[in-house]
Amino acid sequence: MLVVKEIKELQERIAREKQEGRTIGFVPTMGALHQGHLSLIEKAGQQTDFVVTSIFVNPTQFNDKKDLTNYPRTLDKDLELLQETACQLVFAPEVKTIYPQEDKRQFNFGKLEQVLEGQFRPGHFNGVAQVVSKLFDMTKPDQAFFGQKDFQQLVIIKALVKQLNLPIEIVACPTMREEDGLAMSSRNQRLTDEQRQNAPHIYQTLKEARNKARSMSVNEVKQWVIETIDQNEFLQTEYFEITDDENLDTIESWDSPLNKVGSLAVHCGEVRLIDNIVFE
Ligand code: PAJ
Repeated sequence: MLVVKEIKELQERIAREKQEGRTIGFVPTMGALHQGHLSLIEKAGQQTDFVVTSIFVNPTQFNDKKDLTNYPRTLDKDLELLQETACQLVFAPEVKTIYPQEDKRQFNFGKLEQVLEGQFRPGHFNGVAQVVSKLFDMTKPDQAFFGQKDFQQLVIIKALVKQLNLPIEIVACPTMREEDGLAMSSRNQRLTDEQRQNAPHIYQTLKEARNKARSMSVNEVKQWVIETIDQNEFLQTEYFEITDDENLDTIESWDSPLNKVGSLAVHCGEVRLIDNIVFE
């Protein structure tokens, strides 16, 4: 497995692989890798010939500077984990390599970036689009792999590829969870033991909400989820919303023919956790 820090070396290696007829699979990450990330890499290994993983904590997508400072950085351990996977090249650049000058580009995803996370993390998706568009340009993958855990990000990346006419297939991968149901996340490392014990209450409530949907209206379920999570003294819901999975419009009735996804953000102490569930 090759580890490169410079764009030129990345591009030369990928060009060589392409010349030899290999397809490129790309898995962008911010490191502090866990089984969720590794599941994306495994899928990339099944579907493409040469798998590139990037590890880059992207400053432009952090609207909260404290979150950027506290974000776990564990490169040595990440590289060790990656040795056991299908990943053939790791791109781990410095901030000044990706941003030799300030990126002033403003993307416009309309409603997609205004709802859900967009209401609470201004500029976040613009930062994601900045870095992902640069990384796509550098790696020119055939397929890129993203987790459904970050459901809105996935929707926005699909819109980005469309807007920029990029010949890249975006592959959605299921959310990996701990045994107790907590969605795997690099941020889970920052939970205290007590918080960690209580955090699974989030997904338990989401699963229970699917049962409630048989007897409650959409609005009743929304209220029930927020109340139920907030009953736990370690958890505070920031939002819970049920939308379709394409335009992120609010679902008014269970009769809607669209796919329905319930998304939330919950504060657990200093840590902000997100998760989602599909309603059948
Ligand atoms: P990061 O949070 O490191 O996540 C990298 C990828 O792993 C994303 O596609 C995310 O959805 C996926 N992922 C995270 N937790 C997962 C889980 N439990 N199950 C399945 N997939 C999971 O998302 C980012 O980084 C950044 O915004 C990035 C796209 C790299 C741009 O900076």
